[in-house]
Amino acid sequence: MKNIDKSKDKISNMFNSIAKHYDFVGHLLSLGIDVGWRKKTIKSLEINNQTRCLDIATGTGDLAIALAKQNPLSIDAFDISEGMLAIAQKKAKKKKQLEKINFIYADAEEIPFPDNYFDVITIGFGTRNFYNYKKTLFEIHRVLKKGGQLRILELTLPENKFGKLYFFYLYKVMPFIADKITHAHFYKYLPESIHDFDQGMVFMNQLEKSGFGKGQISRYSFGITTLYSVEKCTVLSGVNDVVKDLKRDVKIYNNAV
Ligand SMILES: C[S@@+](CC[C@H](N)C(=O)[O-])C[C@H]1O[C@@H](n2cnc3c(N)ncnc32)[C@H](O)[C@@H]1O
Repeated sequence: MKNIDKSKDKISNMFNSIAKHYDFVGHLLSLGIDVGWRKKTIKSLEINNQTRCLDIATGTGDLAIALAKQNPLSIDAFDISEGMLAIAQKKAKKKKQLEKINFIYADAEEIPFPDNYFDVITIGFGTRNFYNYKKTLFEIHRVLKKGGQLRILELTLPENKFGKLYFFYLYKVMPFIADKITHAHFYKYLPESIHDFDQGMVFMNQLEKSGFGKGQISRYSFGITTLYSVEKCTVLSGVNDVVKDLKRDVKIYNNAV
């Protein structure tokens, strides 16, 4: 892994500086497909009026708002960027979902909730930015109930012919357009952070080591985004034979668009 500075101050300042442009630029650069990726994430979950949900690194709140529309028992949503949280609250109010969501300032490395508390945890495009994502996975395991559902949506690099074209877009076209709009250098960080991050089976193995199993990898839009779907297992899979057992469960779906 490269030495990208992902300290809490650097990350929160960076997201504070782009908060007001985040949604517009995100939809523009993904040509609006990001809306569909989040919809698929919510659709993959089983939610009823007894479900306690947590959206980690909620940003401008899209996943939290989508969860609220499923009418679960409760939704907590947190982030380390106050700028992003402010936009999330405004948006939730506009969509008449604010009273259902408890937005708070918190760090994924120290989740301010008790053990075995949530039934569902979502993270949309946040994991890649965590200072120490491996430590964070253990923290998520702690607050999720046994059998609880974890969904991690993350930007990935296509492992197919489309990859070269996407690299050009990611490194050349996208930073140029985005920096013109935001005047921030975040969009140089973006490709590096995607390139640098564990993906596919490497990431799934890390989830297994942190005590999650029954894994499913769903690649969307030629592989530029991946949804990792897992459940909390009873045992932490540090023991070799448990890791083997869990691996047999991993299903991979390559869905184009
Ligand atoms: C790319 S945005 C994603 C926002 C939103 N989830 C979405 O689907 O668009 C990443 C978010 O992760 C947040 N973040 C990064 N590190 C964090 C941490 N350690 N704890 C909580 N939030 C964090 C950032 O502040 C930022 O709002």
